[in-house]
Amino acid sequence: MTSEPARVPVDATTTHAWGSLTELSKNLRPDLRGWFAEDPARAGRLSHQAADLHVDLSKNLVTDDVLAALLALADEVGLAERRDAMFAGEHINVTEDRAVLHTALRRPSDEPLTVDGQDVTADVADELAKVYAFAEKVRSGEWTGVTGEPVRTIVNIGIGGSDLGPVMAYEALEPYVQDGLEVRFVSNIDPTDVAQKTADLDPTTTLFIVASKTFGTLETLTNARLARDWLWRSLVAAGAIEDSEEGRADAVAKHFVAVSTALDKVEAFGIDPANAFGFWDWVGGRYSVDSAIGTSLAVAIGPDAFADFLGGFHAMDEHFRTEPFERNVPALMGLLNVWYVNFRDAHTHAVLPYAQQLHRFPAYLQQLTMESNGKSVRWDGTPVTTETGEVFWGEPGTNGQHAFYQLIHQGTRLIPADFIAVANPAYPLTDAVGDPSTGSGEPAAEGADVHGLFLANFFAQTKALAFGKTADEVRAEGVAEDLVSAKVFSGNRPTTSILAPALTPAVLGQLVALYEHITFVQGVVWGIDSFDQWGVELGKKLALEIAPAVAGDEAALAAQDPSTAALIAKYRELRA
Ligand code: F6P
Repeated sequence: MTSEPARVPVDATTTHAWGSLTELSKNLRPDLRGWFAEDPARAGRLSHQAADLHVDLSKNLVTDDVLAALLALADEVGLAERRDAMFAGEHINVTEDRAVLHTALRRPSDEPLTVDGQDVTADVADELAKVYAFAEKVRSGEWTGVTGEPVRTIVNIGIGGSDLGPVMAYEALEPYVQDGLEVRFVSNIDPTDVAQKTADLDPTTTLFIVASKTFGTLETLTNARLARDWLWRSLVAAGAIEDSEEGRADAVAKHFVAVSTALDKVEAFGIDPANAFGFWDWVGGRYSVDSAIGTSLAVAIGPDAFADFLGGFHAMDEHFRTEPFERNVPALMGLLNVWYVNFRDAHTHAVLPYAQQLHRFPAYLQQLTMESNGKSVRWDGTPVTTETGEVFWGEPGTNGQHAFYQLIHQGTRLIPADFIAVANPAYPLTDAVGDPSTGSGEPAAEGADVHGLFLANFFAQTKALAFGKTADEVRAEGVAEDLVSAKVFSGNRPTTSILAPALTPAVLGQLVALYEHITFVQGVVWGIDSFDQWGVELGKKLALEIAPAVAGDEAALAAQDPSTAALIAKYRELRA
């Protein structure tokens, strides 16, 4: 039984806890060296287990008093009630009057959930069964193209949530991809994208998945038409189909499937609804990788691995739903982010995976976090009362170390950072020539485990950021006095360390769900609707209005503001 949802958001800045946090922040002198020296148990006390993830929060700039005040803030803004309302399917996406039920996508099929009179668990199970059956057909070679050849390349056409999740997960789970299958992703309306991704493809063995929640997105529909043209042209050129309406219809039937909530529009595009997989308006685009939007991934890694992926999400959902907030990792990480944004003036947040396979994870998180929490009004339409929505960014370690870590270590900005790694790599290589850890270049008796060296960097960076290097320590190395200040590291730069056993489908699901819930927690504190995205609409509309001006319509050009008109005119002059 969930309580009635509040009709207005609690203004976090008026709570007692907010006042305490303001006071605590004013008096806080961050001192991670001192805090660990006084309390060696700090690492253990502030480390938590969430499903397979070991999460160490101890290098964050918080005292027990700060943590207690953050937990009190969670209470005062009604975090538990909002969370329960989300899981129960209440319409917490207020501006679109929708339930927010991505958690139902990974709910066990024997746990019915009725929302708006509909058994959503049963709906999810039915659709998943369709996706799995299709995946098996493609993987087994039963699904064939116009010449009877099995599929070797899948091209997912989609953008935003219909691209970022699938491509991130495909890259992350590459070791699980069936031999002989490849997935490519086309998203940008820059024609280069579709041209490059199809350039070397054999049309007889290529299958396109057009993924679009609305099936109305300009980029995706344009790319889908370009892909369809390419398919027809190249099949005709190869003599695989007749250049006729029938030949073209056959090509679409065998080489195109779709994923959407708008199955009528799929049909209008020419794709048989029998070859379409649906989902529901209660799944936000950026929360949809575990819906049919993940069809390309399900084909690539197979239904069993995809089911493990969903199981990982569910394990994190259960942790978030049931664990007391003192040990609840998404709640704690979300509250820490609030602490940094609202009380320590952090403007950005770095996510630094020490796992090459997670190289698209920061990009994925950019949509998840910033499209969700980049808002200036609360869910009742009133202005926000504090800063919201920090910028998320990042690159895999160790590449980032040689690019932007300088600023994280010695810049003037506070940049909280999440370090993510797995203990067991997919490719456990040994450097047999020399042991790089000694720097000697001498042949090592057994060879050096390169993953160990990789993770030594993770531990070194989080240590350097936390504890820094004092002027005396620099001097003790014999550094000339005029260089000492340049070589000092202030330390007290906050990090969270996340370690998992291996990058399995389940662990990836846990990681994604962890960040979904962190995003939710921040949105609740700020009183915003983390599930709408009105801020992307204006640019889309203007692009459609401006397109005729770009194409040469003088009246449309004259209707533009002077700056935009001048730019368009320049473009037209430069365009050969
Ligand atoms: O432009 C933003 C957005 O609406 C995202 O929220 C969404 O993930 C993306 O566009 C793609 O939308 P669709 O899946 O409907 O094509």
